[in-house]
Amino acid sequence: MLPYGKQTIEKDDIEAVVEALQSDWLTTGPLVSTFETTFAQTVGSQHAVSFSSGTAALHAAMHAAGIGAEAKDEVIVPAITFVATSNAVLYQNAKPVFADVNPDSLLIDPEDVARKITANTKAIVAMDYAGQPCDYAALRALADQHNLVLLSDACHSLGGAVGPTQVGSLADFTCFSFHPIKQITSAEGGMVTTNNDLAATTLKEFRNHGITTDHRQRESKQQHQYAMESLGFNYRLTDLQCALGLSQLAKLKRFTRRRNDIARFYRSLLEPISHVNPLKTRTGIEHAHHLFVIRWDQNSTGLSRDYAFEQLRDRGIGVNVHYQPVYQHPYYVNRFGDQTGQCPRAEQAYHEILSLPIFPGMREEDVRRVVGQLQAITQAKPNSLSKAA
Ligand SMILES: Cc1ncc(COP(=O)(O)O)c(C=O)c1O
Repeated sequence: MLPYGKQTIEKDDIEAVVEALQSDWLTTGPLVSTFETTFAQTVGSQHAVSFSSGTAALHAAMHAAGIGAEAKDEVIVPAITFVATSNAVLYQNAKPVFADVNPDSLLIDPEDVARKITANTKAIVAMDYAGQPCDYAALRALADQHNLVLLSDACHSLGGAVGPTQVGSLADFTCFSFHPIKQITSAEGGMVTTNNDLAATTLKEFRNHGITTDHRQRESKQQHQYAMESLGFNYRLTDLQCALGLSQLAKLKRFTRRRNDIARFYRSLLEPISHVNPLKTRTGIEHAHHLFVIRWDQNSTGLSRDYAFEQLRDRGIGVNVHYQPVYQHPYYVNRFGDQTGQCPRAEQAYHEILSLPIFPGMREEDVRRVVGQLQAITQAKPNSLSKAA
């Protein structure tokens, strides 16, 4: 099975982790701050604070942004995203309000965001779907006009940019994930970047139980006392993970270039295939190509996306679907009621999208194989079209 995403772990990554294992610090040691400083420099931000996952990073960013300080706080999130984006709002006891997406890119639509702003709205979350940065200029204008915090869920878009500005410096808070299928990995891991000094301190406390110093700082000062000043969590990233993250970060440009080459090759091969339509890329941006998403045309093929999904999987192509609109998940229906019709473009897209395999280790022949199978499944139409319904 050709997977839809896969990490690239090389000899020097392994050596970096082994070296960390042999050091005195397995968890919060010197590599944490080295990883954070290097990461902040890479994305052009003043601060980078590491977390145990992208989800923890999102939770911490919501906390540092003051979400949930008032009982009726609302945060606008895109309908098409991983559930973690919206769950982070719930962790803070605030309400996620879903905005529809642009049908060409599946990025949050600033016009629908504007429609969903109320007196209770506190923040907007931009999620850089598939690795393509959102329309940050339009979202920033809305945030400024309504005095809202702009958060970026950039779990797909490390390595992306808008003009000369890197993802990581486009919002008040930007959250990253280092899960193995992401642009770089630390096994599990996450990061928040911000230019706000006070917020950076809050983020560091939040990941360490709300305690104002870490173990290593106390060791170096020969101190035993510590103060817990707020309610926090254990969301720390270990030195072992930072060793891997640092080693991988040095390869980010190469990985992103490779992903872009694969995406270009897909586009050239898919150009003549009318029933497979890749999402569009906005001009003036650098795409990180975490995913390569196409819309499957059921009308012209008479075959559903789910049929295509099953067929491709049967033929060894590990396609996936990202994502069902969050408010359709049972937990959200049970808690907030049926929100069908809230974001019609997202609902429609969900029935058409397929994520094709893309990862730095993929070869040209793999891309040809995927495209060949996308064509073959329409030529070998099922006898019973019932499966296609
Ligand atoms: C858009 C998005 N947000 C948040 C997350 C959560 O990241 P993690 O798995 O590191 O907790 C992911 C990861 O899958 C994601 O794709």
